[in-house]
Amino acid sequence: MPDTSSQTPLRVAIAGLGTVGSGVIRLLDTNRDLIAARAGRAIEVSAVSARDRSKDRGVNHQRFHWEDDMAALAAREDVDVVLELVGGSDGPALALSRATLAAGKGLVTANKAMIAHHGLALAEAAEARETPLKFEAAVAGGIPVVKGLREGTSANALTKVYGILNGTCNYILSEMEATGADFAETLGEAQRLGYAEADPTFDIEGIDAAHKLAILAAIGFGARVDFANVRTTGIVAVRAADIAQADALGFVIRLIAEADAQDGRLLQRVRPCLVAKDHPLSGVDGPTNAVVAEGNFSGRLLFQGAGAGDGPTASAVVADLIDIARVFENGGEVGAPFSMPVAQLAPLGPADSADRLERTYLRFTVNDRPGVLAEITAAMRDADVSIESLIQQGRGSADGEVLVAMVTHEGPERSVAKALELLEGSESLTAAPLVLPILPA
Ligand code: NAP
Ligand code: HSE
Repeated sequence: MPDTSSQTPLRVAIAGLGTVGSGVIRLLDTNRDLIAARAGRAIEVSAVSARDRSKDRGVNHQRFHWEDDMAALAAREDVDVVLELVGGSDGPALALSRATLAAGKGLVTANKAMIAHHGLALAEAAEARETPLKFEAAVAGGIPVVKGLREGTSANALTKVYGILNGTCNYILSEMEATGADFAETLGEAQRLGYAEADPTFDIEGIDAAHKLAILAAIGFGARVDFANVRTTGIVAVRAADIAQADALGFVIRLIAEADAQDGRLLQRVRPCLVAKDHPLSGVDGPTNAVVAEGNFSGRLLFQGAGAGDGPTASAVVADLIDIARVFENGGEVGAPFSMPVAQLAPLGPADSADRLERTYLRFTVNDRPGVLAEITAAMRDADVSIESLIQQGRGSADGEVLVAMVTHEGPERSVAKALELLEGSESLTAAPLVLPILPA
């Protein structure tokens, strides 16, 4: 290891000592010498802040200065970079981030909600002060996908970015698949393991994946972040019966986030999809994330790894710190947070997908009585939807409710929407149909 003891250390403050903040302290302690060698100097924690000073966090944080008010971290003279590891799109996390950049200090955050909502304004503030704003940990935990798209694919025009961006949903779906356990049971375990957001509805309703997708789309397509136009469906309507049905048809169910840019329009969607068992994303289990980026010269690239949890997320946070240590040390270029200056990001409007072609899985919950199947298939015929396969499950409940599941041939999205419109209000249906697209190969 090179001797870096004569170099000035990079001094860091940590706001938030939960799963990620404690993980960062553990990582900085464990890999201290290696990090100093790679950064060209030591990285030292000066001060920390959280809500409860006396809480046992499994790491010794009592050796650092404590600030009750985390906003004070940004003003400390012994701090070069602030780590915002608190969470929440607004409130104290945003106030601290703004104050940090305004003070000309570097900011590292794992907060995808804040970057999805306020990333452009924060990036403008960072650019104005020529200070670093980095958020590798905000997308896909330990996978260096922000760096991968900002730097690794920067020579390409990307055609598509898609993947599995929420560890909690992926853990829940793959646990339901492997054990037949119910939704609530597996969500509780994901929370216990530290994967879920403080408010887990952000995970299961797809909002967390939408935050991450909006960030990746901005970097990948050189577009302004547009979280408001991510069309988002979560996994709460997926039943164990759908997972079994998908399995019988040769698929698994995964929450897929996808974005593409065509003709100056950006399509961003998060939705549970059927993924064929021979597709590379079908084997992505547990809290693992995976991102596929398709470049016009690189071809298809797959980034895969742990998407949540203390160790992987801390790994991404500290990698950002090492980058900053090198830049500050060498007086180098900080680089635009979204790969190009905010003023150059394109304001792409939202794309209409009604004419896009896809195969679809449809599940109807129906009263088991004569004519029901005919009514559903007539709606398909009238909307010009061609059925590839159809399964009706035997009577499973005392009240005569059965499931009818089908897979359509490839056709425009508008046709399936039309069929569902024709069935709206039908007394044969006992619940809203579930519509899951089939991810193309
Ligand atoms: P967490 O375990 O809930 O920790 C949050 C920390 O922030 C706690 O230490 C808490 O203090 C502190 N805090 C909350 N509100 C505060 C306030 N008003 N003032 C001062 N301190 C406050 O959360 P986390 O899982 O570490 O997540 C932190 C950030 O990383 C979030 O933006 C999250 O989305 C992101 N992230 C998490 C993961 C993951 O796997 N967990 C992965 C990627 C990104 P107390 O401990 O005293 O209550
Ligand atoms: N709640 C998030 C997830 C944490 O489950 O993916 C990682 O960003």
